[in-house]
Amino acid sequence: MSILNFGDLDSLDKIIAVDTATVTVRVDELELLKKIQVNRLVALRSAKAGQHLIGIVSRITRKADSTSSTQTSTVEPENEFPENNLVRIALIGTLVDKEGVTENVFKRTLETVPEIDADCFSLEGERLTNFMKVISDVRGEGPQLHLGRYALDEGARALLNGNRLFQRHAIVVGSTGSGKSYTTARMLDQISELPQANLILFDTHGEYRTLQGDAFRHLRIAGPGDIGENRGIEDGVLHLPYWLLGYEALVALFVDRSDQNAPNQAMLMTRCIVDAKRATLDPEGHRDILNNFTIDSPVPFDIEFVRDELTNLNQEMVEGARGPKQGPYFDKLSRLISRFEAKIFDRRLGFIFRPPESCMEMNWLEVMAHYLIADRAAQDDVKGGIKIIDFSEVPSDILPLMVSLIARLVFVVKQWTLPVYRHPISLFCDEAHLYIPERTAADSADEISVGIFERIAKEGRKYGVGLVVISQRPSEVNRTVLSQCNNVVAMRLTNGEDQSVIRRLLPDSLGGFGDLLPILDIGEALVVGDASLLPSRVVVSQPRFKPSSTTVEFWDKWQLEEAVSDTSNAVRSWRRQSNAT
Ligand SMILES: Nc1ncnc2c1ncn2[C@@H]1O[C@H](COP(=O)(O)OP(=O)(O)OP(=O)(O)O)[C@@H](O)[C@H]1O
Ligand SMILES: [Mg+2]
Repeated sequence: MSILNFGDLDSLDKIIAVDTATVTVRVDELELLKKIQVNRLVALRSAKAGQHLIGIVSRITRKADSTSSTQTSTVEPENEFPENNLVRIALIGTLVDKEGVTENVFKRTLETVPEIDADCFSLEGERLTNFMKVISDVRGEGPQLHLGRYALDEGARALLNGNRLFQRHAIVVGSTGSGKSYTTARMLDQISELPQANLILFDTHGEYRTLQGDAFRHLRIAGPGDIGENRGIEDGVLHLPYWLLGYEALVALFVDRSDQNAPNQAMLMTRCIVDAKRATLDPEGHRDILNNFTIDSPVPFDIEFVRDELTNLNQEMVEGARGPKQGPYFDKLSRLISRFEAKIFDRRLGFIFRPPESCMEMNWLEVMAHYLIADRAAQDDVKGGIKIIDFSEVPSDILPLMVSLIARLVFVVKQWTLPVYRHPISLFCDEAHLYIPERTAADSADEISVGIFERIAKEGRKYGVGLVVISQRPSEVNRTVLSQCNNVVAMRLTNGEDQSVIRRLLPDSLGGFGDLLPILDIGEALVVGDASLLPSRVVVSQPRFKPSSTTVEFWDKWQLEEAVSDTSNAVRSWRRQSNAT
């Protein structure tokens, strides 16, 4: 069944001029002309049966009455037709009713050119919804990802293809306050309807605490306020102990790369950590682990053991020909040791270096990975689903390290999962410019984080790990990661640099859409990519649970009679590094 079953009465009017990719239509009826708007979609009956050409209205001109000579002369010269009421349409593709066994196929090529006098119809309401469904390849039954409505036509629902959107990564961009968090919450709303939903949202500001319901789990990264408290994952507190850090992260934390002795220091530290990890393992019971052991093996180890080993090496005396002499590293590690101690005793980092006992058990990793990766249907008390991880109490300089640690964990576990058991998971990265930055210092924590996200962006699709990068500064987000995102949800963008980054991701044959970026309304988005072949302007519906990101009404608040500030609690929380009461 063709989705474009127009009757002859629906026709706008006849085509009066045809070019390779543009046509001009004359619309005599003023009422009809008023209904047409620039950027609206139209269908033209093609000479071939079962095909329609699809176009976008690029210009509408209503020439003044020819009796008034003064006004006729103001008509632009390019408008060469003597008639009134012209609509210019840029052709963008062909809709074929049936191709092979598939019905309604849209192609970005022009299979024919419309004939003069062919009929032309405006795509509205139900037909527009159906056409957009074809564009985004939303077929089949079941819940759809319903983002909102099309700006062109309130009556048409904007549906996205949930497979394509999450498979090939997506970005949500827009200046501050343009509605990214709301759009994210709207997507989560729709996803939460699915019985086996599975995603992790990195919530850097604790904005998404308001999302409640069966599908949502809230976890908080342990912060300085959790040192010494015995709170675990059952209480919604997620510890990320030091032994989870990979080789690069450990070196970035402990070794000062500008030190001329740095390669030696990294090598010795590696050796000591490997020894410490081996010491934890039982030679018999863990033989299979020991046989394939590397510095990156996720095995708990005693950090004091490493410090003692380094101290020993730093003081070691060896037998020489003429009695004891200084060992090869004598006094060469003093700087490394003091840096090492500074870190492990730094209270700010205490939640990494002083985790509760339970985090030092071998099986803890399994429990935690299960919590993070489980889908909603997990049979036990874990009940995965949409996991919202609150990073708001994590010091900003180690945020990249912590976020990427979780991303890496998810990716590595997925890599080691047999394909039949791989349940897809999506990582939503809010405020991504903070931990996937474009500019990084060599060997810094930022660089490690970028490396991990680049890897996921490039290879994640194969393992069922998708990224949704959310940022207000796309120009500050790593380019490699951005270039791998095949879907763009762009909200209002005012900054020129950011606009040009996004423009480059829009298909150029459709030109004008980039110009919309600065004039989109709050909550309006341009959606384009795998999940929607034609850029479409969508008014995002309000989410069921609104993120707590409300824009503060300065003027209104300043008019209140009562004071509302609570500075002393703020200062107390700052000192305790925790908002918990
Ligand atoms: N779809 C929408 N419909 C109606 N109002 C909206 C919509 N999206 C956003 N708003 C309004 O805009 C405000 C800011 O939105 P939001 O917090 O999503 O912005 P943001 O882009 O995430 O900003 P930031 O970059 O600062 O995090 C909201 O509090 C809400 O009042
Ligand atoms: Mg936000």
